[in-house]
Amino acid sequence: MALTNSQDRQLRERARAVIPNGMYGHQSVALLPDVYPQFFAKAEGAHLWDVDGNRYLDFMCGYGPNLFGYCHPRIDAAAAAQQKLGDAMTGPGPAMVAFAEKLVSLVTHADWAMFCKNGTDATTMAMMIARQHTGRRKIVVAKGAYHGAAPWCTPNPAGTVAEDRAHLLTCIYNDSESLDAAVREAGDDLAGIFASPFKHDAFADQSLPERAYAMRARELADRTGALLIVDDVRAGLRLARDCSWSTVSVKPDLSCWGKDIANGYPISALLGAEKARSAAGSIYVTGSFWFAAVAMAAGVATLEEIETSDYLEKTVRLGEKLRLGLSSLSKTHDFSIRQTGPAQMPLILFDEDPDYRVGYGWSAEMVKRGIYVHPWHNMFLCAAMTDADIDAALNAADDSFKALRANFSTLAPHPGLAAMLKSRRR
Ligand SMILES: Cc1ncc(COP(=O)(O)O)c(C=O)c1O
Repeated sequence: MALTNSQDRQLRERARAVIPNGMYGHQSVALLPDVYPQFFAKAEGAHLWDVDGNRYLDFMCGYGPNLFGYCHPRIDAAAAAQQKLGDAMTGPGPAMVAFAEKLVSLVTHADWAMFCKNGTDATTMAMMIARQHTGRRKIVVAKGAYHGAAPWCTPNPAGTVAEDRAHLLTCIYNDSESLDAAVREAGDDLAGIFASPFKHDAFADQSLPERAYAMRARELADRTGALLIVDDVRAGLRLARDCSWSTVSVKPDLSCWGKDIANGYPISALLGAEKARSAAGSIYVTGSFWFAAVAMAAGVATLEEIETSDYLEKTVRLGEKLRLGLSSLSKTHDFSIRQTGPAQMPLILFDEDPDYRVGYGWSAEMVKRGIYVHPWHNMFLCAAMTDADIDAALNAADDSFKALRANFSTLAPHPGLAAMLKSRRR
């Protein structure tokens, strides 16, 4: 099965001349199988069309922002109405207050909200507020957890200096003893403890937060006066209509949000408890586009959908249907796969696949059949998906397992990925 890709190839060639490497960041397809398109023409509901007109059921959802479906009519109408009135003006519109009110009423631990543009803005602000609140320097993060692309947290240290991370200490996610040890090492200089809502590192099985670990993080923050921060940028609103750690009954002091809070309109947020309000009000953070009104209006409409629709139950149900179906199909074709994390944010890895060549082979077959999956990053379901979409994905999976079995002896490691994994292990 061959996809047409001439437009994509032409764009890639033009891009190479005017964009470093032709593309950069997490949406570069340099580390994906060759069949993955780099450029897309449009998206609607649960589907994407690449620039050559190939249509895909999109299990990446823009790497998270698409929660209710691309071009959602009600959310887009709210954004369009605000667009007619003004967007990046000399000050914010009333939607800023409405959006903050809605977030504060939805998220149990939150008493205030601040807005920014990217998840990294929110995590960086959280770090600054923890330092300002405590007058201390050390920040504990879990090894391998992603908190953004600023010098203090980027997984690729090119262009940074050791001093950017001088006050970071690491622990192992879900391992209370290692958390205790990191906090001990920080001594009387601990400003904050960062926590992912669940372990959703790339290239590794996902795991849900253990309640004992989350409670220990809360206790340690309380005992030391440090702030507990949940980075809900990726998982926010996908696990709960509240902070994700409400699922283990632990309230952080700060939580970071982004990606889907306005269903793809560019905005992120930092939410906080009363005790951190004064520190939050004293740091200087801002940006030319942070207060633009269109994304705020889209955010208000998105939260109305959160409050009134069954999006969460639906994505969980469809995710479970997909998981069950894939489990059974993999067995039929004699493959052993691991499906980890919440069903609505699935990650699929193959057993005995240390260089990911089997996962790559299967993902490439899925993409050839119009199902956009990812071989090493967690995926996302959106509320625009239907039972028929999941059936289509399972049909494609059946054929993809079959093709994988037939091509098994020809599978080879992806050269770029092999080099990247080697540098990470160093
Ligand atoms: C958990 C987490 N934190 C922070 C970020 C950074 O968000 P952004 O890419 O919007 O800066 C991401 C992005 O993937 C993320 O998944």
